[in-house]
Amino acid sequence: PIEDRINNLISLMTLDEKIMQMNQWTYGKNANPNNIGEHMKAVKPEIGSLLYRSTNPEYRNQIQKKAMTESRLGIPIIFGFDAIHGYKTVFPIPLAQACSFNTDLVQKSCSITAKESWLSGLDWTFSPMLDVARDARWGRVSEGYGEDTYANSAFAVAAVKGYQGSDLKDKYTIAACLKHYIGYSLSEGGRDYHFSDISNQTLWETFMPPFEAGINAGAATVMSGFNDISGIPASANYYTLTEVLKKKWNHDGFVISDWGSVKNLVEQGVAKDIKEAAKKSFLAGVEMDMVDNAYLDYLPELVKEGKIPMKTVDEAVRRILRVKMKLGLFENPYVDVVPEKDRYLLPEYLRTAEELAQESMVLLKNKNNVLPLTSKYKSIAAIGPMVKDSVHIMGFWEGMGNPADVQTIFKGLNNEFKDKSTINYALGCDFDGEDKSGFAEALQVAKKSDVVIIFLGEKRNWSGENGSRSTIALPKIQEDLVAELQKTGKPIVLVLSSGRPLELLRLNEMADSVLEIWQPGTAAGSSVAGILSGRHNPSGKLAITFPQTTGQIPIYYNMRESARPQAGHYQDIPRDPLYWFGHGLSYTTFKYETIKLSKTKIKRNEKLIAEVEVSNVGNRDGKESFLWFVKDPVASISRPMKELKFFQKKLIKAGQKEIYRFEINPETDLSYTDSNGKKHLESGDFYIIVNDMQAKFELID
Ligand code: IFM
Repeated sequence: PIEDRINNLISLMTLDEKIMQMNQWTYGKNANPNNIGEHMKAVKPEIGSLLYRSTNPEYRNQIQKKAMTESRLGIPIIFGFDAIHGYKTVFPIPLAQACSFNTDLVQKSCSITAKESWLSGLDWTFSPMLDVARDARWGRVSEGYGEDTYANSAFAVAAVKGYQGSDLKDKYTIAACLKHYIGYSLSEGGRDYHFSDISNQTLWETFMPPFEAGINAGAATVMSGFNDISGIPASANYYTLTEVLKKKWNHDGFVISDWGSVKNLVEQGVAKDIKEAAKKSFLAGVEMDMVDNAYLDYLPELVKEGKIPMKTVDEAVRRILRVKMKLGLFENPYVDVVPEKDRYLLPEYLRTAEELAQESMVLLKNKNNVLPLTSKYKSIAAIGPMVKDSVHIMGFWEGMGNPADVQTIFKGLNNEFKDKSTINYALGCDFDGEDKSGFAEALQVAKKSDVVIIFLGEKRNWSGENGSRSTIALPKIQEDLVAELQKTGKPIVLVLSSGRPLELLRLNEMADSVLEIWQPGTAAGSSVAGILSGRHNPSGKLAITFPQTTGQIPIYYNMRESARPQAGHYQDIPRDPLYWFGHGLSYTTFKYETIKLSKTKIKRNEKLIAEVEVSNVGNRDGKESFLWFVKDPVASISRPMKELKFFQKKLIKAGQKEIYRFEINPETDLSYTDSNGKKHLESGDFYIIVNDMQAKFELID
């Protein structure tokens, strides 16, 4: 049995060997065949983990061999890396993935990432990020699954299953790491690394459920965040790390600190020096120290001084060894070395990347059905800084993605329209700056074309880590370019690539059609061109709200009701955001029948079935994501205006219909969690809400 093996091993380990297991070093920043020897020398065979930034599985196996043969007890190293939305095959950013509302496809993309990563020498990815994000100024909004708790939970499960497969011992599977535990997305004002002021109610209602879902799906590890939670840093928080994660949820894997977050306790003013930081973090429940060496430098003396009990050290090591054993590293410490052509970017991977990218894209506006581009548009202007880009379109944390492997939009358009239309290209302007010298050429190109498509957006590092922005509008030069081209009177299509919702107040008015493509990754060209041509029918729906202006943040669909719902809004903009969570158009039309309920009164132990028939009354096949919301109008505490409880995506062929069905389980779907994490199920009226329809029922005792 695994626990006996672990205990036996621990009984043989010295204190120094135990502490070495609790550290992660980085490896491979400059790894190349000429300096591998130097790197190898620097790696101690007893080290617990390496953050492995190299695509070379042979180096990894050599290092592993060193651990297996040169350390006294032959304990394998666990190799980790940030494969967040792909490794070599780069999938759309997670925020985009969420808009697909397709958990199967997200799971598939994660299993491809696992395969490419494992064949490159990895055992572990620092993904998925489950920080429910409601402040688009925060750059890391791109890395998670949007503003909704249920959606984050559903994608947490999909990602964990995708990375970890059904048995971590299997080849091509890697351990997942749920991050950033917890509340990081509420960094004040959207400034990265800042503190978060979170009530216990919000902590339990909004932030905890995705992590709990990921743990229940079997996630092997968790990463503690940089932020503090109402004064207590996430990386020194005994309540969240030990009482909740380990004791309440019974997580038996380990917690790794985020890069530098142990030492950061000094900056955060809860430790006078690094030694105290190491002690606090360790005793709170962080078992592995990412790159800080704080554990390495101070745990030995803290143990000798009696400030850290040996049994806590043993428990930490036990958790780390357990994950290594579950991964099968003791029996199979080495990864297979196969030629690169069999490792990366296989045709099936690229097909999945295209499928996920096109299902992620959200058609926000389509006045006069300018899209899809029919054969009447013989000449198409493709203008803007995104047209030929292959760097920013991959987004932040692009893994080992290589711009040379990205199919640009330009290439995609030329392939797509080669027999139908000509593509007339102009840069127009850069992403930012004030240089308008390209406007004249862009204007000429627009004038000679039948339709003008303007490809705008954000650079990759405008979102992601440390990518906070005080405004989520695109730089003025990009808006000016659109204003200039609008003067031609030609139909204007805006294609936007960004790592966050954008302030579109002005741009939206200037365009006939607006397509948000996010940062689609390797298959950008074919997926964007496929949507524009109509080869793909858009099916993405927003997993995050687009506010009217930056000043309207925070605004999200499941806010609690205000005391005076009709008043109190900003006077200078409309009450509602520009596009709510769940918004997204299709090239076909779906007709929803009314909601049918199996009963109008249910008892606590009964189930209620809700059904809606949806017909595709247009003339194209299309996929429709169906979002089921519940509203609890009166409870002991004020509840959100509505809450997503379930979603399904189905293909409905033109002229056909499908029935969407939701089985409501009162315990999970009608209860709420209080500020202590306790669930309450209160009888009374409830509503099922679908689009602008609602159906009432009663929960009775
Ligand atoms: O995994 C990341 C984390 O999300 C942010 N800081 C660095 C880590 C390791 O690269």
